[in-house]
Amino acid sequence: MTVAARMNDLGTESAFEVLARARALEAQGQEIIHLEIGEPDFETPQHIVEAGMKAISDGFTHYGPTAGLPQLRESIARNSGEVRGTTTDPANVVVTPGAKPIMFYVLLALAEPGVEVIYPNPGFPIYESMIKFSGATPVPMQLLEDKDYHPDLEILPGMITDKTRLIILNSPENPCGSALTKDELETIANIVKEHPGLYVMADEIYKDILYTGEHYSISSVPGMQERTIILDGFSKSYAMTGWRMGYGILPEELVPHIVKLAVNSVSCAASFTQMAAVAALEGPKDEVEAMIGEFAIRRRIIADGLRSIPGVNCPEPEGAFYAFPSIHGTGLTSTQFEERAMNEAGVALLSGSAFGEYGEGYVRLSYANSQENIKKAIDKLDKMVRAL
Ligand SMILES: Cc1ncc(COP(=O)(O)O)c(C=O)c1O
Repeated sequence: MTVAARMNDLGTESAFEVLARARALEAQGQEIIHLEIGEPDFETPQHIVEAGMKAISDGFTHYGPTAGLPQLRESIARNSGEVRGTTTDPANVVVTPGAKPIMFYVLLALAEPGVEVIYPNPGFPIYESMIKFSGATPVPMQLLEDKDYHPDLEILPGMITDKTRLIILNSPENPCGSALTKDELETIANIVKEHPGLYVMADEIYKDILYTGEHYSISSVPGMQERTIILDGFSKSYAMTGWRMGYGILPEELVPHIVKLAVNSVSCAASFTQMAAVAALEGPKDEVEAMIGEFAIRRRIIADGLRSIPGVNCPEPEGAFYAFPSIHGTGLTSTQFEERAMNEAGVALLSGSAFGEYGEGYVRLSYANSQENIKKAIDKLDKMVRAL
């Protein structure tokens, strides 16, 4: 078979491959602690599940409008206004099956050969994959261990050329767990405003899982709403990864292009999951708050535990549910550490190099697992490293 040359530019997410390897070892009777998965280990809150089931019974089983059901777009606009302190028109909201399609569509709509896109590195691997797939040039913005995985914004102006069309921000960040401060976002906004035609895609999918202070969106900076594409969704905040429910809040001009890409690919998101999403936004938040409270306890256990392992340094995670320790001091590469952790310690985690060139020397551990399993995993990794 001759496949299109562009397929060579498309990357992948190694979490799914590591999970498959872990499952194969489990099938052979080996015990594996799963710290590789990027999804909450909690169940979707019951009132959301019930709203989804009711929607199926009520006949929300047909195609809906491509941009999303009006009641959900209104609910998202209202919620975004509350969270971000902006006035959002439901017409600027496009609902998709998961938030990933927004990433895909925005890059297909804005990036092309000759265009440069700045993105966080280490970062969510799909950014670099999709920038390359679009034919544009990826320009990594390094997140630095000695700055607790924040970027050096003094060098950002020098990274922007007349070809730069988009800056991708992700806060709180996967895999580093860092969250940009209001000051940093204002600095970035001021730089962006100096360049007409430059847009920001703010991936705020982890905005509700924050341990220090309040979430701040770059779209809240005066003059930035029309220059910002917000990517957000229900997967992480409401433990709804399998429902596939996400959205973009877009500058008006971009909406028809993103809708056209959605018509050409998915037609619309499932109607009954959209009704469940309305229930998520409009309903009680106690289970969500309890989940975040539990993540906060696990964060303490995992960060302190990792720091007690010789040769490992773990900057404090500020948000999301990932720890991203440096393993330079162990003498292993990231991939060696990933393989030995799985085969010798029975701990599934991800090599930092799967998150870009600046991820070498680091690994990512998701703390979407019980306190007991996290403590066990730390003990096993400690023994593994001490025996090196
Ligand atoms: C940074 C980031 N953005 C976006 C997504 C996509 O989430 P979903 O497509 O489930 O909404 C993920 C999922 O892992 C993520 O980590």
